[in-house]
Amino acid sequence: MSSVFKDAIDQFLYPIKELLEDAGVSEIMINGPKEIFVEKKGLVYKTDAQFHNEEALLSAMRAIAQSVGRRIDKDNPRLDARLPDGSRIHVVLPPMAKNGTTVAIRKFSKEKLTLNDLITFGSLSKDAARFLDICIFLGKNIIVSGGTGSGKTTMLNVLGSRIPKTQRLIIIEDAAELQVKAEHVVNFETRKADSERGTTEVTIRDLVVSAMRLRPDRIIVGEVRGEEALDLIQVMNTGHDGSMGTVHANNPVDACTRLETLCLMGDTKIPPDAVRKMVASAMQIIVQCSRYHDGGRRTSHVSEILGIDKNGNYISRDIFKWVQTGKDPESGKYIGEMVSCNYVPTFFEDIVVNKLPFPKSNFLAPEWYNQKLKGDKGEAA
Ligand SMILES: Nc1ncnc2c1ncn2[C@@H]1O[C@H](COP(=O)(O)OP(=O)(O)O)[C@@H](O)[C@H]1O
Ligand SMILES: [Mg+2]
Repeated sequence: MSSVFKDAIDQFLYPIKELLEDAGVSEIMINGPKEIFVEKKGLVYKTDAQFHNEEALLSAMRAIAQSVGRRIDKDNPRLDARLPDGSRIHVVLPPMAKNGTTVAIRKFSKEKLTLNDLITFGSLSKDAARFLDICIFLGKNIIVSGGTGSGKTTMLNVLGSRIPKTQRLIIIEDAAELQVKAEHVVNFETRKADSERGTTEVTIRDLVVSAMRLRPDRIIVGEVRGEEALDLIQVMNTGHDGSMGTVHANNPVDACTRLETLCLMGDTKIPPDAVRKMVASAMQIIVQCSRYHDGGRRTSHVSEILGIDKNGNYISRDIFKWVQTGKDPESGKYIGEMVSCNYVPTFFEDIVVNKLPFPKSNFLAPEWYNQKLKGDKGEAA
């Protein structure tokens, strides 16, 4: 850890030092000096921690900004930065922030979850995990979709680590978060403009263009949230199969729509319906991450996108989905499991031809789920 940053913590951040050091805390939320919440295992709790007053909190934020070569003041009332330990911080000052200086610190967890962890936590079924492994092996384009904190980056990290060793991977992010374990990885991070230091901005979009010229086998864009969507879609449509990214959306169809909207944000000359066709043909597999009300993070859908129908709507078919069957009365945790949805993906032949051990029967829903579907239909009738 840089000593400037450590000094900043010791001097100014002592009210939240314990929280920063507690590995069980994944996020710290400060709503003005007297109100500090934390997230633990997906649930949010209020803590007793407090800053002495607004001035003390503001000084702490100034020190943090300074330690990473940035500033926060009247003229720059918002700060978005990555701390030396990889944590991410976002700050908004009054008068925009009505509660007083408002901060969220997303802590960087060194222990990255693995595919096996996700299975153990019940976030992903064994079959779905093996199926995703196969999709990666076959070079399917995968978009991980979900809300903030739903586990997108974690999922992308896990999936990226399954990419075959022989391939060259270029990873592009706003803030280097992904730690993909692979043999041949190149990491890029964007840069913000800084007029004081005379540095210019380097965007995700710039880096995707560079990546294309650096002989990638696959490109991974950590978070697609701007006009770089169009570049990623083009990458996916031009033979860099098996590229990946995450997008902020609530379900698989929504993920396609969101990407389409982002594509159109730039000053592209491509007409909207052509963009929609491009998105539809680039998308193959969507992995939807969701944060449930019980605090659990689960993969709610693994779906295949089949293009667009004659009305211009995206066609999405669920291959696996998480179904809730109950709720533990004591812990309040949801009970349920990920089931197959009786849908065989269009590329099943590739699985057979490549002799991958995944029989067609794995796509069949369990009997209890078929009964439930029948029941639900009966009720609706
Ligand atoms: N399946 C999971 N089960 C439990 N915790 C998870 C799971 N996926 C992610 N997390 C944790 O949730 C937090 C947010 O995950 P992250 O992948 O950064 O979300 P996002 O990228 O969607 O904002 C992290 O602390 C991460 O370790
Ligand atoms: Mg993320």
